Formats: sequence, structure tokens, C-alpha cells
Amino acid sequence: MLGAGTVGGGVYEILMGKTPSKVETGSDHNIRRVIISKICVQSLDKTRDFAIHTDQTTLTTDWKELLTDDIDCVIEVAGGCGVAKDCLLAALRRGKKVVTANKAVLFEYRAEIEAACAASSNTTAARIGYEAAVCGGIPIINALTTAWAGDAIGSIQGICNGTTNFMLSHMQDDDASVSYDSVLKQAQALGYAEQDPTADVDGHDVRAKMAILAQLAYGTSPTVSQIPCTGIRNVTAVDFAICRSSLQGSTIKLIGTVQTANTTPNATAVPLSMADAASAAKTLCVTVTPTVVPASHPLAAVTGCGNAVAIQSAHLPGITMAGPGAGRYPTAQSICADVHRAGSGTLPPVAFPRPRAYQATQWTIVSDYTARFYIRHTLETPAATSSTEAALAIWSQALPVERVLYDQDGTLAIVTTPSLYSLVESTSRTVAGNTLIMPILQET
Ligand SMILES: NC(=O)c1ccc[n+]([C@@H]2O[C@H](COP(=O)([O-])OP(=O)(O)OC[C@H]3O[C@@H](n4cnc5c(N)ncnc54)[C@H](OP(=O)(O)O)[C@@H]3O)[C@@H](O)[C@H]2O)c1
Repeated sequence: MLGAGTVGGGVYEILMGKTPSKVETGSDHNIRRVIISKICVQSLDKTRDFAIHTDQTTLTTDWKELLTDDIDCVIEVAGGCGVAKDCLLAALRRGKKVVTANKAVLFEYRAEIEAACAASSNTTAARIGYEAAVCGGIPIINALTTAWAGDAIGSIQGICNGTTNFMLSHMQDDDASVSYDSVLKQAQALGYAEQDPTADVDGHDVRAKMAILAQLAYGTSPTVSQIPCTGIRNVTAVDFAICRSSLQGSTIKLIGTVQTANTTPNATAVPLSMADAASAAKTLCVTVTPTVVPASHPLAAVTGCGNAVAIQSAHLPGITMAGPGAGRYPTAQSICADVHRAGSGTLPPVAFPRPRAYQATQWTIVSDYTARFYIRHTLETPAATSSTEAALAIWSQALPVERVLYDQDGTLAIVTTPSLYSLVESTSRTVAGNTLIMPILQET
């Protein structure tokens, strides 16, 4: 195992606990014990918060020691794209099974991982399991590759980052008094947010996860530049108050979306039918953005550090999987399930299985989509009403404004009828002041 921190400690306790884990190997009904024989860490002197059985496990700081012939499977729980990536790829190239929780490596080194798995011989077939990499304890990876087999997925909407969901939940609950900065400090004090929170609050973590889900659901993976990504820094308590009072109790969530693109104004995003899926060229749109979620939508009820993924497909019009998106034991359990699959030979032979419905589809990735939008516009200096009137005139000229939600103290909030994101975004650049643009999810 590479890494013995929050997740690694949980994996060790589960697999090497009082009753050590056993795995059915599938050959002659053999049962084999799982033994974590080596752990590579940065510091040998560090006090660990779990007991290491020194008669069975040795500690090292040299990750190359994990590549010896007596080791069948490497569990990578160090994180990052440095040593973790080197070790993961080297293990696969040696024909080992690899289990990882590392979405960053999966996102940035997908091609290398695929090639390493494809190049391994049948006898020492490299396999990779990465259930823990998206939504920690929610078994979304295994579900996507098995439960939707043969179906055509139309959209995936997910709350895939516990830190930002914790922060937004607090902003939602604590009236209009709590600011983004104070809730970030609170999340950092509780250990939910890193000292450098960029990856979480700017949506980069969700972006990598949505790219992995896009790969599994559609067989294509957009690059960083193909995923419009807006984080939560600009969301204010006022936005929560407006959504609650003027949009029937709606709330705000950071939502990652993967959907077959619909850039026709006034059209609703519907899942593809199987017949649609069979046709050749399709457009796909992957986005990360703060989003207005109606109270009736299943994602509205996901609070605190919870994660959830809502999937629409041709045959299953609304499935939502919710649960712990992080944490020692939920994440470790996802790792351990993959270790058992590795032992019993049931990890898929290809790293990123392509869904049957879209085997032949040539995807075009687009960054534009249609939605109703919440637009909150704050003037630089809270000025006379005439200033918000001027801003409203600009918005109304460019877009079909459905309703003005709020117009007070230099803050204007409007809702559009279904419009193109590109038009909303380009208009916002012509109006002076601070603008928050959020798509509104459809009621379910
Ligand atoms: N925490 C969660 O709830 C969660 C949920 C889902 C996915 N994940 C993913 O799981 C992975 C691990 O997360 P974590 O929270 O367990 O991290 P963590 O607590 O920071 O632990 C990281 C471990 O990796 C070791 N390590 C780091 N760099 C190393 C290097 N260069 N050589 C050898 N060992 C090294 C550290 O060694 P020392 O202990 O000696 O410093 C530490 O034991 C990450 O990819 C993360 O994104 C975490």
C-alpha cells in the first residue's frame, strides 16, 4: 500500500483487522487471505492512528519496494500526481492489480493507464479498480459499469465534493448572516477544507470526477479546457435568501453535470432514447457550476459533507445514489471492495470500459447548453434604483427575462426563460458590476 493516512489507515484496519479479510480467488474455490505486506510512507517516524502488525507488514519509504514479485496488488492511497502516478503506472506495467482513490491521476493519465492495462499479457493481466476515486463511499463506478449495462445514459448530475456541500449547507441554514469567508474558515477549522481550498471551492476536484464519469457513461473524456468550471466563491447569503423566498424554497449546490448536449433554446434536456443512442454523431456537455436546485429535486436534500449522483437514462428515468462522499471508513470500504474484486479476478480487463449503447458514437464536446438561469447582478456601488434599471434594460434586451426576483440596494436578481449559457455569459461582460450566473435544475 502506498500511503497510510486517513484512507490508508482505514483500509489497513478493515483488511488486516482482528479477523483478517479473505478473498475467494475464483480458482478451485480457493480462499486466500489478504495481507498488506508493505506500506510505503513519507515518514517512518510518524505516529500512526492505527496499529500496524509488524510481524506481517513492513514500512518503507521506497515505493519501488511495492513492485516485487511477491506482491499481487498495489493499493495507492497517497494522492497527487507525483510518486502516486509513478508507482501506479509502474505497477500496472509489471502486470499487477492496482486499486486507487486518486481521481487526479485517473483524469490526467487516462491514456497511460489504458495503455498499461492493454499491454499486459493474459497471465499477468494488469487491472485497475478506482471505486473510491469518485464520491468516496458511494459505489457509483461499479454501478455505472454494471447496472446501466446496455442502457443509454442521458444525463448525470452530481454533488461530488463534500467540502463545498458542507459550506453551502451552512450558508443555507444560517439565515442571511453567514458569509462565504466565515464558512470557509469553519470548514478549515473542522478539517473539511484544506488550507489551500482551491481544488474544492473552484470546482477542480468535481471537474476531474465528472470527466471520469463521462468516460464511463459515454466512452469519452473531455479535457480541462473543454469543461466550463465555476466554483462557489461568488455565492452569497443573499443568493440563498432570494432563492428561498422567490423560487419556492430552492437551494444552491455545486453541481457537476454530464449530459448529451441540447443547445436549442426552449427544449428540455431529456435522456436519449436507445434509437438516438445508436445514431452516429452526438454532442456532449460537461460543466461544473453553482446551481439553483428546486426543493423537490432529490439533490436538494443532500446536506453537510454528503454526496449524491442523479442519473437519467433511456430506461431508468430517475435514479439517485446518495451517501458519504469521503471519510476514512466509507472511502476505505470502496477500496476494499476493489481489492476483493482484484483477488477474485472480477475487475474489468480494460481500465475504462466503453458503454455498449455508445460503442460507435463519435462525440463532439461542447461547452454550451440551454437552461433557465438565475442571474444576480450587484452594482459596484449600491446606487440609485435607476442603475439597476439600466442593468435590467441590458439584460432584457439580450435575453428573455422571465421575472425580476429582487431589486434592492444595488442588487438585481432575475430569472430567464431557457437560454443559451454563452449568451448569458457574454451579456454579463457588458454590464458593469459583479454577476453570479446559475442554471436552474428542472423540478422532478
Ligand atoms: N480522505 C478522504 O476522505 C478521501 C476520500 C476520497 C478519496 N480520497 C483520496 O485518497 C487519497 C488519500 O487521501 P488521504 O486523505 O488518505 O490522504 P492523507 O491522509 O494525506 O495520507 C496520504 C498518505 O500518503 C503518504 N505519502 C504522501 N506522499 C508520499 C510519497 N511521496 N511517498 C510515500 N508516501 C507518501 C503519506 O505519508 P506520511 O503519513 O508519512 O506523511 C500519508 O500516509 C487521495 O488521492 C485522496 O484524493 C480521500
